[in-house]
Amino acid sequence: MMLLKNRKSWHIAENQVTPERLYLSRRQIMQGFGLGLGAALAGPLFRAGAAYALPNFGIAKKTNYAGDEELNSYKDITSYNNFYEFGVEKSDPAKYAHALITDPWPVEVTGHAERTGTYSLEDLIDFNALEERIYRLRCVEAWSMVIPWVGVPLAGILKKFEPTSKAKFVRFETLANRAQMPGLRSRVLDWPYREGLRMDEAMHPLAFMAVGLYGKPLLGQNGAPMRLVVPWKYGFKSIKSIVSINFVENQPQTSWEMQNPSWYGFYSNVNPNVSRQRWSQGRERRIGDFFKRKTLMFNGYGDQVASLYAGMDLAKYF
Ligand code: MTE
Repeated sequence: MMLLKNRKSWHIAENQVTPERLYLSRRQIMQGFGLGLGAALAGPLFRAGAAYALPNFGIAKKTNYAGDEELNSYKDITSYNNFYEFGVEKSDPAKYAHALITDPWPVEVTGHAERTGTYSLEDLIDFNALEERIYRLRCVEAWSMVIPWVGVPLAGILKKFEPTSKAKFVRFETLANRAQMPGLRSRVLDWPYREGLRMDEAMHPLAFMAVGLYGKPLLGQNGAPMRLVVPWKYGFKSIKSIVSINFVENQPQTSWEMQNPSWYGFYSNVNPNVSRQRWSQGRERRIGDFFKRKTLMFNGYGDQVASLYAGMDLAKYF
Protein backbone atom coordinates (compact mmCIF):
# COMPACT_ATOMS: atom_id res chain seq x y z
CA MET A 1 0.00 0.00 0.00
CA MET A 2 1.41 3.31 -1.00
CA LEU A 3 0.26 6.60 0.38
CA LEU A 4 0.53 9.74 -1.65
CA LYS A 5 0.27 11.89 1.37
CA ASN A 6 0.08 10.62 4.89
CA ARG A 7 -2.56 11.60 7.35
CA LYS A 8 -0.07 13.33 9.59
CA SER A 9 1.05 15.85 7.00
CA TRP A 10 -2.54 16.76 6.26
CA HIS A 11 -3.25 17.28 9.93
CA ILE A 12 -0.14 19.40 10.33
CA ALA A 13 -1.32 21.68 7.59
CA GLU A 14 -4.79 21.83 9.09
CA ASN A 15 -3.87 22.41 12.71
CA GLN A 16 -0.65 24.22 13.36
CA VAL A 17 -1.63 24.88 16.93
CA THR A 18 -0.64 22.22 19.43
CA PRO A 19 1.07 18.88 18.94
CA GLU A 20 -1.93 16.93 20.27
CA ARG A 21 -4.05 18.34 17.52
CA LEU A 22 -1.87 16.66 14.95
CA TYR A 23 -3.58 13.44 15.90
CA LEU A 24 -7.20 14.43 15.65
CA SER A 25 -9.28 11.90 13.80
CA ARG A 26 -10.91 12.89 10.56
CA ARG A 27 -14.27 12.74 12.27
CA GLN A 28 -13.13 15.49 14.59
CA ILE A 29 -11.70 17.45 11.70
CA MET A 30 -14.92 17.10 9.77
CA GLN A 31 -16.87 18.28 12.79
CA GLY A 32 -14.64 21.31 12.70
CA PHE A 33 -15.60 21.73 9.06
CA GLY A 34 -19.23 21.90 10.17
CA LEU A 35 -18.45 24.26 13.01
CA GLY A 36 -16.67 26.52 10.57
CA LEU A 37 -20.05 27.16 9.02
CA GLY A 38 -21.63 28.13 12.31
CA ALA A 39 -18.79 30.46 13.13
CA ALA A 40 -19.17 32.18 9.79
CA LEU A 41 -22.90 32.76 9.93
CA ALA A 42 -22.34 36.47 9.88
CA GLY A 43 -20.71 36.12 6.45
CA PRO A 44 -22.16 37.21 3.12
CA LEU A 45 -25.40 35.63 1.96
CA PHE A 46 -25.75 34.30 -1.55
CA ARG A 47 -29.22 35.67 -2.00
CA ALA A 48 -31.87 37.17 0.18
CA GLY A 49 -33.65 34.56 2.24
CA ALA A 50 -31.01 31.89 1.87
CA ALA A 51 -29.89 30.72 5.29
CA TYR A 52 -26.47 30.25 3.87
CA ALA A 53 -23.11 31.69 4.70
CA LEU A 54 -19.72 30.76 3.38
CA PRO A 55 -17.44 29.13 5.89
CA ASN A 56 -13.79 29.98 5.74
CA PHE A 57 -12.85 26.50 6.76
CA GLY A 58 -10.48 25.38 4.06
CA ILE A 59 -12.51 26.70 1.13
CA ALA A 60 -9.94 28.26 -1.15
CA LYS A 61 -12.15 29.32 -4.05
CA LYS A 62 -15.85 29.82 -4.77
CA THR A 63 -17.43 29.73 -8.20
CA ASN A 64 -21.04 30.06 -9.21
CA TYR A 65 -21.82 27.99 -12.31
CA ALA A 66 -25.59 28.54 -12.15
CA GLY A 67 -25.94 32.24 -12.93
CA ASP A 68 -28.62 33.95 -10.89
CA GLU A 69 -30.65 30.78 -10.37
CA GLU A 70 -31.75 30.23 -6.80
CA LEU A 71 -30.02 27.64 -4.69
CA ASN A 72 -32.16 24.77 -3.52
CA SER A 73 -32.52 24.61 0.24
CA TYR A 74 -30.31 22.40 2.38
CA LYS A 75 -33.46 20.57 3.35
CA ASP A 76 -34.45 19.81 -0.26
CA ILE A 77 -30.95 18.68 -1.15
CA THR A 78 -30.67 16.36 1.85
CA SER A 79 -34.19 14.94 1.93
CA TYR A 80 -35.15 14.35 -1.73
CA ASN A 81 -32.55 11.89 -2.97
CA ASN A 82 -31.78 9.01 -5.27
CA PHE A 83 -29.48 6.53 -3.58
CA TYR A 84 -30.94 3.14 -4.38
CA GLU A 85 -28.58 1.32 -2.00
CA PHE A 86 -30.82 2.78 0.71
CA GLY A 87 -34.14 2.21 -1.06
CA VAL A 88 -35.95 3.46 -4.14
CA GLU A 89 -38.17 6.09 -2.49
CA LYS A 90 -36.90 9.67 -2.50
CA SER A 91 -37.17 9.75 1.30
CA ASP A 92 -35.35 6.43 1.91
CA PRO A 93 -31.76 7.74 1.74
CA ALA A 94 -32.40 10.39 4.40
CA LYS A 95 -34.11 7.74 6.53
CA TYR A 96 -31.43 5.06 6.33
CA ALA A 97 -28.11 6.55 5.25
CA HIS A 98 -27.07 7.57 8.76
CA ALA A 99 -25.98 3.92 9.10
CA LEU A 100 -23.23 4.51 6.54
CA ILE A 101 -19.78 4.25 8.15
CA THR A 102 -17.44 6.69 6.40
CA ASP A 103 -14.38 6.72 8.62
CA PRO A 104 -12.08 5.06 7.77
CA TRP A 105 -12.85 5.08 4.03
CA PRO A 106 -10.39 2.97 2.04
CA VAL A 107 -10.48 3.47 -1.75
CA GLU A 108 -9.05 0.86 -4.14
CA VAL A 109 -7.22 2.30 -7.13
CA THR A 110 -6.50 -0.25 -9.86
CA GLY A 111 -5.75 -0.59 -13.57
CA HIS A 112 -3.63 1.35 -16.03
CA ALA A 113 -1.80 3.78 -13.77
CA GLU A 114 1.71 4.15 -12.37
CA ARG A 115 0.36 4.17 -8.83
CA THR A 116 -2.28 1.77 -7.65
CA GLY A 117 -3.26 0.41 -4.24
CA THR A 118 -5.47 1.21 -1.30
CA TYR A 119 -5.68 4.84 -0.32
CA SER A 120 -7.43 6.78 2.41
CA LEU A 121 -9.83 9.63 1.75
CA GLU A 122 -7.14 12.03 2.92
CA ASP A 123 -4.73 10.66 0.31
CA LEU A 124 -7.22 11.51 -2.41
CA ILE A 125 -8.69 14.80 -1.24
CA ASP A 126 -6.60 17.82 -0.35
CA PHE A 127 -8.75 19.25 2.44
CA ASN A 128 -6.70 22.45 2.36
CA ALA A 129 -7.67 23.16 -1.24
CA LEU A 130 -11.42 22.68 -1.14
CA GLU A 131 -13.47 24.68 -3.60
CA GLU A 132 -17.10 25.60 -3.56
CA ARG A 133 -18.95 25.22 -6.88
CA ILE A 134 -22.58 25.97 -7.48
CA TYR A 135 -23.80 23.58 -10.17
CA ARG A 136 -27.17 22.60 -11.59
CA LEU A 137 -27.93 18.91 -11.09
CA ARG A 138 -30.36 17.55 -13.68
CA CYS A 139 -31.86 14.15 -12.89
CA VAL A 140 -33.04 11.92 -15.75
CA GLU A 141 -36.44 11.87 -14.00
CA ALA A 142 -36.87 15.45 -15.26
CA TRP A 143 -36.32 17.29 -12.00
CA SER A 144 -33.35 19.46 -11.12
CA MET A 145 -31.71 21.31 -8.26
CA VAL A 146 -29.02 23.96 -7.80
CA ILE A 147 -26.46 22.81 -5.26
CA PRO A 148 -23.45 24.51 -3.66
CA TRP A 149 -20.97 21.63 -3.63
CA VAL A 150 -17.66 21.60 -1.79
CA GLY A 151 -14.86 19.47 -3.19
CA VAL A 152 -11.93 19.31 -5.59
CA PRO A 153 -11.58 18.91 -9.36
CA LEU A 154 -11.64 15.24 -10.33
CA ALA A 155 -8.65 15.72 -12.65
CA GLY A 156 -6.39 16.61 -9.71
CA ILE A 157 -7.25 13.35 -7.97
CA LEU A 158 -6.81 11.19 -11.05
CA LYS A 159 -3.48 12.77 -12.01
CA LYS A 160 -1.96 11.73 -8.68
CA PHE A 161 -2.10 8.14 -9.88
CA GLU A 162 -0.41 8.91 -13.22
CA PRO A 163 -2.75 7.01 -15.53
CA THR A 164 -0.89 5.50 -18.50
CA SER A 165 -1.74 5.93 -22.18
CA LYS A 166 -3.74 2.69 -21.98
CA ALA A 167 -6.21 4.34 -19.59
CA LYS A 168 -8.97 5.41 -21.99
CA PHE A 169 -11.78 5.33 -19.43
CA VAL A 170 -12.16 5.50 -15.68
CA ARG A 171 -14.63 3.36 -13.82
CA PHE A 172 -16.04 4.01 -10.36
CA GLU A 173 -17.88 1.81 -7.86
CA THR A 174 -19.98 2.58 -4.82
CA LEU A 175 -19.71 0.71 -1.54
CA ALA A 176 -22.00 -2.34 -1.46
CA ASN A 177 -22.40 -3.27 2.18
CA ARG A 178 -25.54 -5.21 3.04
CA ALA A 179 -25.30 -4.50 6.75
CA GLN A 180 -25.34 -0.74 6.13
CA MET A 181 -27.43 -0.52 2.97
CA PRO A 182 -30.92 -2.04 3.16
CA GLY A 183 -31.61 -1.28 -0.51
CA LEU A 184 -29.10 -3.91 -1.63
CA ARG A 185 -31.70 -6.58 -0.83
CA SER A 186 -33.63 -5.39 -3.86
CA ARG A 187 -32.40 -6.41 -7.30
CA VAL A 188 -33.40 -3.16 -8.91
CA LEU A 189 -29.77 -2.73 -10.02
CA ASP A 190 -26.79 -5.07 -10.26
CA TRP A 191 -24.65 -4.04 -7.27
CA PRO A 192 -22.23 -2.47 -6.71
CA TYR A 193 -23.49 0.68 -8.41
CA ARG A 194 -20.98 1.47 -11.10
CA GLU A 195 -20.32 4.36 -13.42
CA GLY A 196 -17.67 5.49 -15.84
CA LEU A 197 -16.32 8.39 -17.86
CA ARG A 198 -14.13 8.67 -20.90
CA MET A 199 -10.71 9.88 -19.75
CA ASP A 200 -11.03 13.31 -21.38
CA GLU A 201 -14.44 13.78 -19.72
CA ALA A 202 -13.00 12.80 -16.36
CA MET A 203 -10.12 15.24 -16.82
CA HIS A 204 -12.42 18.09 -17.87
CA PRO A 205 -12.15 21.00 -15.42
CA LEU A 206 -15.90 20.91 -14.64
CA ALA A 207 -15.80 17.29 -13.41
CA PHE A 208 -15.75 17.50 -9.63
CA MET A 209 -15.38 15.24 -6.62
CA ALA A 210 -17.60 16.55 -3.83
CA VAL A 211 -17.00 15.98 -0.12
CA GLY A 212 -19.46 18.56 1.14
CA LEU A 213 -22.32 20.90 0.33
CA TYR A 214 -23.56 24.14 1.83
CA GLY A 215 -20.20 24.35 3.60
CA LYS A 216 -20.74 21.10 5.53
CA PRO A 217 -19.42 17.58 5.02
CA LEU A 218 -21.70 15.42 2.86
CA LEU A 219 -24.42 13.48 4.63
CA GLY A 220 -24.81 9.80 3.78
CA GLN A 221 -27.82 10.45 1.56
CA ASN A 222 -25.76 12.72 -0.72
CA GLY A 223 -22.94 10.20 -1.08
CA ALA A 224 -20.59 10.69 1.87
CA PRO A 225 -17.70 10.82 2.14
CA MET A 226 -17.07 11.53 -1.56
CA ARG A 227 -19.19 11.46 -4.69
CA LEU A 228 -18.75 12.52 -8.25
CA VAL A 229 -20.49 15.57 -9.71
CA VAL A 230 -20.57 15.70 -13.52
CA PRO A 231 -22.83 18.70 -14.09
CA TRP A 232 -23.38 18.34 -17.86
CA LYS A 233 -24.63 14.76 -17.53
CA TYR A 234 -27.77 13.27 -16.02
CA GLY A 235 -27.55 12.92 -12.24
CA PHE A 236 -27.08 9.17 -12.27
CA LYS A 237 -23.54 9.63 -13.63
CA SER A 238 -22.72 11.40 -10.34
CA ILE A 239 -21.94 8.21 -8.44
CA LYS A 240 -22.02 8.34 -4.65
CA SER A 241 -19.87 6.94 -1.82
CA ILE A 242 -17.06 5.83 -4.12
CA VAL A 243 -14.79 2.99 -2.96
CA SER A 244 -13.15 2.01 -6.23
CA ILE A 245 -11.40 3.87 -9.05
CA ASN A 246 -10.28 1.74 -11.97
CA PHE A 247 -8.37 2.95 -15.04
CA VAL A 248 -9.44 0.82 -18.00
CA GLU A 249 -8.83 0.54 -21.71
CA ASN A 250 -12.36 -0.30 -22.86
CA GLN A 251 -15.62 1.51 -22.27
CA PRO A 252 -16.96 0.11 -18.99
CA GLN A 253 -20.52 -1.05 -18.41
CA THR A 254 -22.55 1.12 -16.09
CA SER A 255 -25.32 0.01 -13.72
CA TRP A 256 -28.09 1.85 -15.51
CA GLU A 257 -26.96 0.72 -18.93
CA MET A 258 -26.95 -2.87 -17.68
CA GLN A 259 -30.44 -2.39 -16.28
CA ASN A 260 -31.93 -0.97 -19.48
CA PRO A 261 -29.55 -0.41 -22.40
CA SER A 262 -32.20 1.11 -24.65
CA TRP A 263 -32.93 3.81 -22.07
CA TYR A 264 -29.55 4.54 -20.55
CA GLY A 265 -26.41 5.07 -22.59
CA PHE A 266 -22.83 5.42 -21.47
CA TYR A 267 -22.58 9.13 -22.24
CA SER A 268 -25.87 10.33 -20.75
CA ASN A 269 -25.22 13.94 -21.54
CA VAL A 270 -28.19 16.14 -20.71
CA ASN A 271 -29.89 16.54 -24.08
CA PRO A 272 -33.38 18.04 -24.44
CA ASN A 273 -33.63 16.68 -28.00
CA VAL A 274 -33.14 13.02 -27.16
CA SER A 275 -35.56 11.14 -24.91
CA ARG A 276 -34.65 7.48 -24.87
CA GLN A 277 -36.05 7.02 -21.38
CA ARG A 278 -39.61 7.08 -20.18
CA TRP A 279 -39.36 10.76 -19.32
CA SER A 280 -39.44 13.43 -21.97
CA GLN A 281 -36.22 15.41 -21.52
CA GLY A 282 -37.28 18.73 -23.08
CA ARG A 283 -38.45 20.24 -19.79
CA GLU A 284 -37.70 19.82 -16.14
CA ARG A 285 -39.12 20.79 -12.78
CA ARG A 286 -36.71 22.61 -10.51
CA ILE A 287 -37.46 21.21 -7.07
CA GLY A 288 -39.45 23.88 -5.23
CA ASP A 289 -40.85 25.46 -8.43
CA PHE A 290 -44.38 25.08 -9.66
CA PHE A 291 -43.80 25.67 -13.36
CA LYS A 292 -41.44 23.60 -15.46
CA ARG A 293 -38.53 25.16 -17.26
CA LYS A 294 -36.76 24.28 -20.48
CA THR A 295 -33.89 21.86 -20.22
CA LEU A 296 -30.65 23.21 -21.64
CA MET A 297 -28.28 21.24 -23.85
CA PHE A 298 -25.49 19.84 -21.67
CA ASN A 299 -27.48 21.22 -18.72
CA GLY A 300 -26.30 24.71 -19.70
CA TYR A 301 -22.58 23.81 -19.74
CA GLY A 302 -22.28 23.44 -23.54
CA ASP A 303 -19.83 26.31 -23.97
CA GLN A 304 -17.39 24.44 -21.77
CA VAL A 305 -18.00 20.81 -22.75
CA ALA A 306 -19.46 20.59 -26.28
CA SER A 307 -15.98 20.25 -27.81
CA LEU A 308 -15.55 16.91 -26.01
CA TYR A 309 -18.18 15.50 -28.38
CA ALA A 310 -17.25 17.26 -31.62
CA GLY A 311 -18.25 15.11 -34.59
CA MET A 312 -20.20 12.60 -32.50
CA ASP A 313 -23.83 11.82 -33.25
CA LEU A 314 -25.32 12.49 -29.82
CA ALA A 315 -28.56 10.72 -30.69
CA LYS A 316 -26.54 7.57 -31.28
CA TYR A 317 -24.10 8.09 -28.42
CA PHE A 318 -26.78 8.98 -25.88
N1 MTE B 1 -25.07 6.81 -6.71
C1 MTE B 1 -25.36 5.61 -6.15
N2 MTE B 1 -24.36 4.89 -5.64
N3 MTE B 1 -26.63 5.12 -6.11
C2 MTE B 1 -27.67 5.81 -6.65
O1 MTE B 1 -28.82 5.31 -6.61
N4 MTE B 1 -28.41 7.83 -7.85
C3 MTE B 1 -27.98 8.80 -8.86
C4 MTE B 1 -26.78 9.62 -8.39
N5 MTE B 1 -25.78 8.80 -7.76
C5 MTE B 1 -27.42 7.07 -7.25
C6 MTE B 1 -26.08 7.54 -7.24
C7 MTE B 1 -29.06 9.68 -9.30
S1 MTE B 1 -30.28 8.99 -10.28
C8 MTE B 1 -29.08 11.02 -9.01
S2 MTE B 1 -30.25 12.05 -9.70
C9 MTE B 1 -28.09 11.60 -8.07
O2 MTE B 1 -27.25 10.61 -7.49
C10 MTE B 1 -28.83 12.32 -6.96
O3 MTE B 1 -27.92 12.97 -6.11
P1 MTE B 1 -28.46 13.73 -4.81
O4 MTE B 1 -29.37 12.78 -4.09
O5 MTE B 1 -27.24 14.07 -4.02
O6 MTE B 1 -29.19 14.94 -5.30
